[in-house]
Amino acid sequence: MVLPNCRGIFSMLLSLWLLASTPVLAIWPAPSSISTGESTLWIGPLISVSYNGKPLPWHYGYEPQGLKFSSSEIIRGGVARAMENIVHNNFVPWMLYNRMELEATEPSLLKPKTFITHLDIAQKKPDTPKTFKPLAGEVDESYSLNVDKNGKASISAVSSTGVLRALESFSQLFYQHSRGNFFYTMSAPISITDKPEYDHRGILFDVSRSFFPVESVLRTIDALAYNKMNRIHIHATDSQSWPLEIPAMPELHQKGAYARGKTYSPGDLALIQRYAINRGIEPIIEIDSPGHFGIVALSHPNIVAGWKSTPWTAYCAEPPCGQIRLNEPSVDPFLDKLMDDLLPRLSPYTSYFHTGGDEVNFNMYKLDPTVGTNESAVIVPLLQKFIDKHHARVRKAGLVPMVWEEIPANYNVTIGKDVLIQSWLGDEAIAALTAKGHQVITSNYNYWVSVNGIWGRET
Ligand SMILES: *[C@@H]1O[C@H](CO)[C@@H](O)[C@H](O)[C@H]1NC(C)=O
Ligand SMILES: *[C@@H]1O[C@H](CO)[C@@H](O)[C@H](O)[C@H]1NC(C)=O
Repeated sequence: MVLPNCRGIFSMLLSLWLLASTPVLAIWPAPSSISTGESTLWIGPLISVSYNGKPLPWHYGYEPQGLKFSSSEIIRGGVARAMENIVHNNFVPWMLYNRMELEATEPSLLKPKTFITHLDIAQKKPDTPKTFKPLAGEVDESYSLNVDKNGKASISAVSSTGVLRALESFSQLFYQHSRGNFFYTMSAPISITDKPEYDHRGILFDVSRSFFPVESVLRTIDALAYNKMNRIHIHATDSQSWPLEIPAMPELHQKGAYARGKTYSPGDLALIQRYAINRGIEPIIEIDSPGHFGIVALSHPNIVAGWKSTPWTAYCAEPPCGQIRLNEPSVDPFLDKLMDDLLPRLSPYTSYFHTGGDEVNFNMYKLDPTVGTNESAVIVPLLQKFIDKHHARVRKAGLVPMVWEEIPANYNVTIGKDVLIQSWLGDEAIAALTAKGHQVITSNYNYWVSVNGIWGRET
């Protein structure tokens, strides 16, 4: 029998050791390209930062203030959050390794340490007002991030949004040591170049069927930022409740909220909008219509058809039913007043307004005293008029209308080429819609959880 020589045993042991201790990277989403080395670097709670060659003082907990958005303030906030995540929200990565292997993986605290003491940020182009309320594709979110093995760290990006994405990746390079407040990476030198695959990356947050306090919305925006997403779509009203305060029409929330205080004041809304933009996330508000509008019957019964009609399965997708009447003269003044109040409070912070348009129940129009039939031949032209007028309100406010896919794909309503369509019923409609020149967001509901075989809608 032949024994492996010493060198053979040594390299066997070495390869086992390497298997146990290859440092794991936790950068998310996985960057377009990354190269890493095997040197260890440490980072302490205080680093100096420069932005385009000038010092950028920062402190923990910094949140940009003021009504105007400024690139350096936004980046200052991003630096503060990245350092907060490294130093205060970090984790000991035992769960990323096999059982009992963490200690074999961590760097020694006794050896001399090389620290990252400075981060150099370069933004290649000045931001424009569009950077803070872009249409899809208008902001270049790409970035590069380099950390050499001597601890020299630098970020380069086209926009401040790209810098924010880079800072997320930077914060994700470091783990906490199991012995305490020591933070390290074992993968230097690190070189990342990254850009998003999609222009619109976000979630829909339904604050109407369930009320969520402002802090929950802000916490969700934080989670989006950690994941380098760039949109939060707030489904602000539905048949179940009207939590959005409209100062010109206080009766809407006074009668339609679940309870006193379960509402968003104009100040709350502005806080949410600014908080999102300071994290590179565009807030998009949806007032669903003409379906999912039942709750308005409590304050404006003449606007709504079929409030709480039964059996609900015949008249809506989920109870309580209620749709905007399609041929009722008081609907236009109602929507004019609503949009004149709301849209000017949205347009400083977004380029979009979501008009809804899903699950319009044609049978319901048999109960609409202004329609009285479920025939498409009658309903589709009325729906076309409704959409034309409503989208005109949105455009007048300088915003681009969004609709759910049923409006063009199922109800044969013609919409403007500018309209952004959100598809949710599976991916089948997307090719047909894009072939007509529309931009489409895919939110295929088949990828969401089913409860007892019933697919949850857009949750
Ligand atoms: C319209 O109503 C009739 C009965 O009144 C029903 O048979 C038919 O299925 C309905 N059509 C739609 C599209 O709901
Ligand atoms: C839309 O058009 C398609 C194809 O012409 C037709 O099958 C469908 O019934 C129409 N839908 C409505 C709501 O009119």
